[in-house]
Amino acid sequence: MRKPMMAGNWKMNKTFSEAQELAKAINGAVEPYNNVDRVICPSFVALPGVAWALSGGELLLGAQNVHWAESGAYTGEVSISMLKGMVTHVIIGHSERRQYFGETDEGVNKKARALLAAGMTPIICCGETLEQNQAGETSSFVSGQVKAALASMSGDDVVKCVLAYEPIWAIGTGLAATAQQAQDICGGVVRAAVAADFGSAVAEQVVVLYGGSTNEKNITEIMQQPDIDGALIGGAALKVEAYASMVQQTSELYK
Ligand code: PGA
Repeated sequence: MRKPMMAGNWKMNKTFSEAQELAKAINGAVEPYNNVDRVICPSFVALPGVAWALSGGELLLGAQNVHWAESGAYTGEVSISMLKGMVTHVIIGHSERRQYFGETDEGVNKKARALLAAGMTPIICCGETLEQNQAGETSSFVSGQVKAALASMSGDDVVKCVLAYEPIWAIGTGLAATAQQAQDICGGVVRAAVAADFGSAVAEQVVVLYGGSTNEKNITEIMQQPDIDGALIGGAALKVEAYASMVQQTSELYK
C-alpha cells in the first residue's frame, strides 16, 4: 500500500527565524499522525535552522530545488552533497521554476537521477497551463513531462520517486481542480504514463500527489480519490492549523 504524503512547499517565504518558529509549531501540531509522510520544504537559507529546530521530531525535511552536478562553477546553485544529511526530499521541476527560471524536462531528469543515486527522494512536478488545458492538450503535455522526467531510469528507481501533478491554473489561485479532474489526470495520465513505460506493477507503487489550491476544506475529497496519494501544498502549508488539519484528515482516511 502506498503511504500518503502531505508535502508543504513554503516557496520564497519566511525568514531564518520565522521558518524555525513555523516548523516547531507544525511539528507540535501534527506529531501523532505517523501513518502520513509529512514533509516541509523551506528555503535553502532556512534549512539548517529548521533541521536543528526539528531534530528529534517526526517531520521530514525537503528542499525546493537542487543542482545535478557534484560541485563546480555554478554560481548560486546548491548541490546534492550540500543537502544530504539535512533533507530527504527535493522538489524538482516545479512550474514556477520551469516558468521563471528556464527549468527543462532534461534538467529535471538529470536532477531526479542524481537525487536517486544519492539515496534521496525527488518530488517531480508536472502540470499544464490554462491555455493547454483549454486546448485539450493536458494529457499529451503532462504525459510527456512525466516520461521525460523518468527517462533512462529503472523501474526500481521510478518507485522511489514521488510525482506531483499540479495544473498551473490551480496553483495559488484558490481554484483547485475538482477531485474528479485531479483523479482523472493523476490516474489516467500520470500513473498511466508510468505504466506505459515501466509496467503496471511499477505504476501501482509510485506515490502520486495532487497540488494546486489544496486546503483543509477540500483535502478529504481529494484524498478519497484512488490514484491520489497526497498533496503538494503551497499557501495552506504556511498555516499551522490548516496544514495540521490536512495531515489529520489524511490520517483518518488511511486508518
Ligand atoms: P498552492 O501551491 O497550494 O498555494 O496552490 C501549490 C504549489 O505550488 O505547490
